[in-house]
Amino acid sequence: MASCVFTAVCFALLGMAAASCGNSATCESCVAQLGCFFNAVTNACQSKGLFNINSSNGTAFVDRAYDCPRPLADYDDDFARNVAYVYAAASNGNVQEIQACLNNRIPGAVVVSQYTVPCDIFKSNCSGYVALNHENETITVVFRGTKGSTQFYYEAINLILYLDKEVPFFGGQVFSYFLNAFQLLWDAGIGEDLEELSILYPYYELQAFGHSLGGSLASLTALAAVKKNYFHSDNVLLYTFGQPRTGDVKYATEHDENVPNSFRIVHAEDLVSQAPLRLGYYQTTAYHHRY
Ligand SMILES: *[C@@H]1O[C@H](CO)[C@@H](O)[C@H](O)[C@H]1NC(C)=O
Ligand SMILES: *[C@@H]1O[C@H](CO)[C@@H](O)[C@H](O)[C@H]1NC(C)=O
Ligand SMILES: *[C@@H]1O[C@H](CO)[C@@H](O)[C@H](O)[C@H]1NC(C)=O
Ligand SMILES: *[C@@H]1O[C@H](CO)[C@@H](O)[C@H](O)[C@H]1NC(C)=O
Repeated sequence: MASCVFTAVCFALLGMAAASCGNSATCESCVAQLGCFFNAVTNACQSKGLFNINSSNGTAFVDRAYDCPRPLADYDDDFARNVAYVYAAASNGNVQEIQACLNNRIPGAVVVSQYTVPCDIFKSNCSGYVALNHENETITVVFRGTKGSTQFYYEAINLILYLDKEVPFFGGQVFSYFLNAFQLLWDAGIGEDLEELSILYPYYELQAFGHSLGGSLASLTALAAVKKNYFHSDNVLLYTFGQPRTGDVKYATEHDENVPNSFRIVHAEDLVSQAPLRLGYYQTTAYHHRY
């Protein structure tokens, strides 16, 4: 559209494009057309009109294939509450406490290792653990949420300033607080544990869980484990709670292609899960995996 210099020509082009919006069969083919958007409320392909590009209703207005409506994979609310949430909550303890918690609620789960590393300039800790359950044939990696106000403010500043970093391995931009913490924990041993366990138990499912910051770390770890070929996409399950937006739309797209069984459970009014803020529809920096 930037090349639209001669107004008359632009009007003609837009007019032609708009005229055919109604013919688009799918949301994807609709948004690929110049001058059209998909209305996700009415399921119609509509013309943006010349001066009335109304993107105020983020749910209804779709102008990007990634945002097109698609079916929700098998979400299991009982599993979210009684398995994923329990694993995530246990991450706040030390190894003995985690094991005691799992013994109570997830019979068969055994903690393999826990890693706690200082992950910012204020030496706030980030922490994660790996557990194994032979009864259910699962390898579970879990990350702790933000702990303490220093870590919260530092993380918030990182997000407010949109300090993200291009990571070719992840296909897009990732917010640097999450990226840094992910890398430190992965290098501290989580990466090696997942590789070894995937070789020992090639048919086990990888489960990745976490709350808040831990949700972002679980999202990055699940994607990394697939990209490193430790686990097959279909054999990875991600459940996060109150996860902030973790990267840009390219990261989110890459994530969904590689970790299709992803569920991000949020409270509608929780600010953390809406950080960093998306200020308008065309801002693509602040995204998270789709569901
Ligand atoms: C955009 O949508 C909002 C809410 O649906 C509506 O109030 C507003 O009038 C619309 N603006 C235009 C220019 O159509
Ligand atoms: C915005 O979209 C939602 C559904 O996605 C719909 O329920 C709501 O009425 C829309 N709001 C406006 C102001 O159009
Ligand atoms: C970080 O973890 C280490 C080891 O578990 C602990 O000794 C230290 O007190 C923790 N630091 C903070 C700021 O919580
Ligand atoms: C283990 O498997 C059983 C039976 O399929 C299921 O009911 C239970 O929720 C699973 N537990 C975990 C921790 O995945």
